[in-house]
Amino acid sequence: MSALKTYLHEQRERHLDELKDWLRIPSISTDPEHKDDIARAADWIRARLERAGCTRAEIFRTPGHPIVYGEWLGAPGKPTVLVYGHYDVQPVDPLELWKNPPFEPTVADGKVFARGASDDKGQVIIHVNALEAHLQTSGACPVNVKFLIEGEEEAGSDSLEPFITSHKELLACDAVAVSDTEMFAKGVPSICHGLRGLSYLQIDVVGSKSDMHSGTFGGAVINPAFALAQILAQLKGLDGKIKVPGFYDKVRKLTPKERKAFASLPHNDAKYRKALGVPGLFGEKGFTTLERTWARPTLEINGVWAGYTGVGAKTVIPAEAHAKISMRLVPNQKPDEIARKVSAYVRKIAPKEVKVTVQNLHGGEAWLAETDHPALVAAGAAVKRAFGKAPVFMREGGSIPVIATFSKELKVPCVLLGVGLPDDNLHAPNEKLDLDNFFRGIEAAAYLQEEMAK
Ligand code: BES
Ligand code: MN
Ligand code: MN
Repeated sequence: MSALKTYLHEQRERHLDELKDWLRIPSISTDPEHKDDIARAADWIRARLERAGCTRAEIFRTPGHPIVYGEWLGAPGKPTVLVYGHYDVQPVDPLELWKNPPFEPTVADGKVFARGASDDKGQVIIHVNALEAHLQTSGACPVNVKFLIEGEEEAGSDSLEPFITSHKELLACDAVAVSDTEMFAKGVPSICHGLRGLSYLQIDVVGSKSDMHSGTFGGAVINPAFALAQILAQLKGLDGKIKVPGFYDKVRKLTPKERKAFASLPHNDAKYRKALGVPGLFGEKGFTTLERTWARPTLEINGVWAGYTGVGAKTVIPAEAHAKISMRLVPNQKPDEIARKVSAYVRKIAPKEVKVTVQNLHGGEAWLAETDHPALVAAGAAVKRAFGKAPVFMREGGSIPVIATFSKELKVPCVLLGVGLPDDNLHAPNEKLDLDNFFRGIEAAAYLQEEMAK
């Protein structure tokens, strides 16, 4: 066994204990009540970067949540790898469905359960541990390493985009490495080379000034909740096709080669359906499940609220009704253009007896990389050494909008070598991280630093 591998084995308990420490901080970015926790989580990883051997580890204030930057640049003449990740986490509701409290990390069955375990604290710290392992075992890392760890990823990365454009020199690098994605399946190590984009809207429907008695006024006015239901029902057909005019105009078509590559992956619809616990799968006609989730755009309703939802019956016509909807986008759709098209369509089909407004909450572009880039080849070699198996190339249905920004602004390749699993319960109760993947992930990150130096 190499000195590095031996060292990593010896440090496993500490690596897990440190991760648990970080996971105890409820750094929920969307909730202003957690502002102090966000600051604590940022301080925690800043201090950890310093302990790991970073020669610079700093907090940058922003109008939103702090950005943490770290660097070790002791390999002159060698490439520089910028590691990106996020220390913020999603809200925890519904809390009653968690088997253990979300911020009391619990180890069971070879997994650590906690909010942020897989998305993304557990995956960020992998790269910190990897750098430290090189420094501890050989006194140097084979490449220069920079860290950019933000606290607003789950809320749209509003402060990060301007930070990147105004700190290009600080962030200058030869490649970006990110662990914030999933492997295709347990035992199927993967490199992700594509993400979907996002356009997120809120629809507000207002009828009267206040709620009305549904007996006295029912029949005289349109119900805003009904008007909203009519609007939502016209957004997508039962064939899974989105009805917004021009929605598919710019969609990049799947090539026969891509369809073949997707079909060669070990996916099984019946097993997938069972694992999800749904009575049936549903999606756009003419495409397979992997095509639908990775390479075709979708439109989803993320939340709807109106009227009385308490115990028992209340006869009321609500004054307002609201919905949050989002579209997952694929190359070459533009989030702003899609937001405009959907807003215009919603306003056009809206009943005239209510006031309908559409707010554009946030968006981000899709990203797709060639699989034969030297950086991806290096990542493939690193993953193979850690997992004992060559990785498959896959795409993801989820979004990390800043990846497209890195490609465009820093003009460097991005390698996504996430070690999450499809059943990690991201954004859901009982989020977890598989510990075998965690420890192999650290090895893979350390080998990536070696492979990138070649
Ligand atoms: N890590 C996820 C993205 C992800 C999820 C990638 C699953 C691959 C598989 C990230 O933290 C996330 O949740 N992103 C948001 C986007 C954002 C703009 C709120 C998403 O995809 O909804
Ligand atoms: Mn994430
Ligand atoms: Mn997330």
